[in-house]
Amino acid sequence: MMVKKRDFLALADYTPEEIWGILHRAVELKDEWQRTGRNTPLLKDQSLAMVFQKPSLRTRVSFEMAMQHLGGYAFYLGPQEIGLGKREAISDVARVLAGYVDAIMARVFDHAHVEELARWAEVPVINGLSDYNHPCQALADGLTMYEHFGRIQGLKVVFVGDGNNVAVSLMHLCAKLGAHFVFSGPEGYDPPRKAWELAQAFAQESGATLTIERDPYKAVEDADVIYTDTWVSMGQEEEAEKRLQIFPPYQVNAALVARAKPTAIVMHCLPAHRGYEITDEVMDGPQSVVFQQAHNRLHAQKGLLAVLLGEGA
Ligand code: CP
Ligand code: NVA
Repeated sequence: MMVKKRDFLALADYTPEEIWGILHRAVELKDEWQRTGRNTPLLKDQSLAMVFQKPSLRTRVSFEMAMQHLGGYAFYLGPQEIGLGKREAISDVARVLAGYVDAIMARVFDHAHVEELARWAEVPVINGLSDYNHPCQALADGLTMYEHFGRIQGLKVVFVGDGNNVAVSLMHLCAKLGAHFVFSGPEGYDPPRKAWELAQAFAQESGATLTIERDPYKAVEDADVIYTDTWVSMGQEEEAEKRLQIFPPYQVNAALVARAKPTAIVMHCLPAHRGYEITDEVMDGPQSVVFQQAHNRLHAQKGLLAVLLGEGA
């Protein structure tokens, strides 16, 4: 009998307990990897197709290595190869791929496209970033905060910059797990209303708070975490000139970081645009955890794959 599959398209679809289940599994698998240099082959002979409509370093390599460390196999399908929705209908791609592999990870422009893949594929579909959100990034962010502070609940997490896909998933992580989320960016660039309303509902359950503060210096007062990301996401290239004029007041630089708690950490999903949303001084400074955070993509996704493919969500 076919076991009902579980997709990972958004943190919004997972309970706080399920998110913690993935994070705790990630901690165990990271510990096993660091202690012994290997992982138990939980996903022996299982395979992951990785469909990319956009470039990637972290998502591509960390998923590929995660599968390999867990005894499975992953392969890359770039934009030129399958032409998702162009050369072939998404519903057809989904049904064909599902006959070859145990799971699909997809990085798409339009969030509706990863939802459509999931609707048609009989195997789990993982969202490797869409225009709406980036839930795999948020798992690594949660793991990094948990490792650093020993908790997520009650932290003050301030996202400075564009209310983009990364901001949406971070906001949902905070709202689900009880951290206080502050968004600080220019008017007109807030996270989408639908995402904000969802976050409000999660916050009511968890005791989290959600705030918008236009002044980044006020926003970061007492912050435990300052988080930023590019001002121009992939697919927004034609808006670059306008955005580069609007966003400079939201640069994460030493003066801004000095207003947060002295114990605050600085996070960035990467790739970073040094000298724009973050300065070299901050990125390479003592409060930056950006490389630990990037490395945690590997471990967080092992937790996710183990839950989705190895043990059931
Ligand atoms: N943070 C992140 O998703 O990086 P890549 O675009 O390199 O995958
Ligand atoms: N917001 C960025 C994240 C890249 C990982 C983008 O969508 O380009």
